[in-house]
Amino acid sequence: MQEKEFESLGSTLLVHVELPQNQSQEDLKELQLLAESGGGDVVYCVCCKRESPDPSTFVGSGKVVEIADAVKAYDAQVVIFNNKLTPAQERNLEKAFGVRVMDRVALILTIFAQRARTYEGKLQVELAQLQYEQARLVRGWTHLERQKGGFGMRGGPGETQIELDRRALRERITAIKKDLEVVASRREQNRSQRKKNSIPVVSFVGYTNAGKSTLFNLLTNSDVYAANQLFATLDPTLRTVEIPVIGKAVFADTVGFIRHLPHDLVAAFRGTLEETAQADLLLHIVDASDEHKEANIEAVDAVLKQVGADNIKTLIVYNKADLVPDSANEIIYDENHKPHRVYTSALTSFGIDNLLKAVSELLTNDLCEFDARIDGSLGKLRSLLYQAKAVDNEYYDETGHCVLKVKITAVDAAIIDSKTNGALSKACVLHKKPWVQSNEFDFDSVS
Ligand code: GTP
Repeated sequence: MQEKEFESLGSTLLVHVELPQNQSQEDLKELQLLAESGGGDVVYCVCCKRESPDPSTFVGSGKVVEIADAVKAYDAQVVIFNNKLTPAQERNLEKAFGVRVMDRVALILTIFAQRARTYEGKLQVELAQLQYEQARLVRGWTHLERQKGGFGMRGGPGETQIELDRRALRERITAIKKDLEVVASRREQNRSQRKKNSIPVVSFVGYTNAGKSTLFNLLTNSDVYAANQLFATLDPTLRTVEIPVIGKAVFADTVGFIRHLPHDLVAAFRGTLEETAQADLLLHIVDASDEHKEANIEAVDAVLKQVGADNIKTLIVYNKADLVPDSANEIIYDENHKPHRVYTSALTSFGIDNLLKAVSELLTNDLCEFDARIDGSLGKLRSLLYQAKAVDNEYYDETGHCVLKVKITAVDAAIIDSKTNGALSKACVLHKKPWVQSNEFDFDSVS
């Protein structure tokens, strides 16, 4: 597909209408962040309250005049409404202001279009844009045709422009869906190959700007684009990572979630989110310094439910711990003794070892049970096993050796083996190390 240059929004005027049933100042802040993410320079903001939207201009004639004056005074190039506009309202407002008018969904689509990088991401964005236009058929079809480089307008005489527009939209939507199916089947093949090789997939999810990409980069030593903008990441990025005990795992960075993410958009990003729905483990990255973190967690959970990923094991990662004093430097366990939460800083690497250990523990759910034969020189091994509460029983065998009945998580076993330079491996009476699932991992290399 041809590379397209998307313009930034330029000087932007925001309009926030509070209706009795919805919206708070918090949403307005997010609109501002969204507009800035789209390259907008927010020059002014109009807020007002209404009992119900005006059918032709949403804000009513008095406010239209006030906004039109502000557009002139601040030389705004675009007016963005926090509310959903009908096509007629948008047209009337554009006429009154003399500049482009868009609503929140159109803004999100614009940002998505600016950010998509892979072939699949671009197709997904184009599909979402076309479906949005199909639902509205706003200004006919012309601006879309300009953006996409055109794909021919046919039709017999007598077909009205709007019929032509609809048909062209339908044809293009069908073509994109076909292309997406091809990409999806390739993705499925890769996934089955990974499954065959028992490589677990760990998917990063989280509210936009929580620090997913920065953490992902740190863990995978890659250079995925990280920026202080909303929705910096649109395409799933997959990387192989070596993690304790497990060996190879695939880490997947995904799209940042947001409150009120329109349904159509979730559908358009099905491919990207599929990676999430198929993961063995989710890392739910939370900006621990965000005062709205609880609401953000709920918003992410809602999207996970929408894509059928709400039953997957999840570790909550409170990131940006450097901004939160007294963040715990330990794994927080739930009532079933499973890792539930860790605190990290992708900037200072705080808590990364806890994160990796928790991931390993969640991916290796079973306890290993084996006998370990300890001789007098293995005092350190013995005491570490007791400290880990891993010894069920102790007796002397017929040769006079002390034997410990060990019950331990694979992760703890690997740690103790490493700390004792392989003494646990030697003491284990089995021929293989029961805690090793695939290739071995050097714990000392994790800083
Ligand atoms: P989307 O792609 O929009 O979903 O964002 P994201 O969750 O991938 O966030 P990203 O990694 O782009 O980080 C957002 C901003 O937070 C960047 O400015 C990062 O430098 C910053 N950031 C990430 N992790 C940390 C952290 O641990 N501490 C601090 N102080 N800032 C961080």
